[in-house]
Amino acid sequence: MRTPILSYPTHAHGRRETSPATKAGTVTGWSSRAAFIAAAVGSAVGLGNIWKFPYMVGANGGGAFVILYLAMVLLVGLPILIAELGLGRTGGAAVTRTFGRIAHELRGGHLWNAVGWLGAATAILILSFYSVIAGWALAYAWRFSLGSLQGLAAEDYSARFDALLASPAEMIFWQLVVLGAAAFVASRGVRAGLDRAVRWLMPVLAVLLIGLGIYAAIIGDAAAALHFMFTPDFSALTPEVALSAAGHAFFTLSLGLGAMIAYGGYVAEDVAIPRAAGWIALFDTLCAIAAGMAIMPIVFGFGLDPAAGPGLVFVTLPVAFGSMPGGALVGTLFFALLVVAAMTSIFALIEPMAASLADGEADRRKWVIRLTALTAILGLISVFSFNIWSDVRPWGEDKTLFDWLSYLTTEVSLPFGGLCVAIFIGWVAPRKTMEHMFDSHFAFKLWLLSIRYVSPIAVIAVFTHLTIG
Ligand code: PHE
Repeated sequence: MRTPILSYPTHAHGRRETSPATKAGTVTGWSSRAAFIAAAVGSAVGLGNIWKFPYMVGANGGGAFVILYLAMVLLVGLPILIAELGLGRTGGAAVTRTFGRIAHELRGGHLWNAVGWLGAATAILILSFYSVIAGWALAYAWRFSLGSLQGLAAEDYSARFDALLASPAEMIFWQLVVLGAAAFVASRGVRAGLDRAVRWLMPVLAVLLIGLGIYAAIIGDAAAALHFMFTPDFSALTPEVALSAAGHAFFTLSLGLGAMIAYGGYVAEDVAIPRAAGWIALFDTLCAIAAGMAIMPIVFGFGLDPAAGPGLVFVTLPVAFGSMPGGALVGTLFFALLVVAAMTSIFALIEPMAASLADGEADRRKWVIRLTALTAILGLISVFSFNIWSDVRPWGEDKTLFDWLSYLTTEVSLPFGGLCVAIFIGWVAPRKTMEHMFDSHFAFKLWLLSIRYVSPIAVIAVFTHLTIG
């Protein structure tokens, strides 16, 4: 029972941002349903899946964390993903106007646009450190390709990583390469830039991930990895672990900052949003597990520590790559995988602000350049907190500026943004906004129940714990 999309004032004024429209000769919007799903999966699969997920599993009790994380994706993430994509398709990709458009019949409805602004600003802040980490990955891909990391002693790998962190110039250089490449693609527009890039980057990502997984199973200890990833130790589950699982569900699905709203804004009207959301969540989860299965067999096979934390990928794994047969190639491919995954997520971090500020595709180049320049400047905060500002710990000894940036954006702002989306779409927006996107009434009811109660309650529980726990 899919009825035609509702008409909101924007459309009446002739400015169509919600479907592949032709505007002044430029084609905007995704070229096909597959391209949309590739772009959204590209946004979802990123450093979160390949860098963060494996070390979170490692540090939080293996299989028990995996189960909790899957539950969070299903109960909290998926309903909000459907809501964000639907919001974008109805109200347009410009996240700072979407909410107001949908709530235009309500007094003060436009105040909800603040959620869009907060999200778009959060995305730029996340990008400012995300691109720094992507820069590390690019630096490592480069070094492995030159063979300069082969055959060192185990402790030399951490010394090399420390040396990278100690050098602002090197970090800035690699970050600028990453941002420059992303800006090049993003400035070309959705159809000619993002769409075209993800259509070849995503197959490359899949091939690299599967290839590395197979090689890891041959050379490493796959049985130990399977045991570790899928045997739950429930005693490891604490409220903190639940908190980080929920936060990670938001981060990995690119929720809470408008990325999926913007991507939903470019979707054709005949694409079934709930089903597409299901595919996106499924592919994202499979990629996280595949990344775990590409990394953990090597970690166990080489007697390394699975709970090594954030350094797992940059310190622990290089030890194995440095000594295994074909390690220079495998190391290069692994870090190339990380760069590709990060790149397709970076597109999605630029998009909420770019779509909001640029007046149509023609104006994009200017805004994308401005935004990336701003990001690079903000990125200095992260770069310096590893070296010249490493002693700047304004609120407590345990967190640097980088730590605060990452904490306030991913653990506070994202869940808060997701909560606002859930409240807006579940309680404020007209019911018809989403109803027509569902094939069955039952599915709609189920989703409504989750978006009204389950997702908000879960997020509030997380927040309560955050503040009083
Ligand atoms: N989902 C991405 C990851 O897992 C991060 C991201 C968040 C990208 C929000 C875009 C928007 O790494």
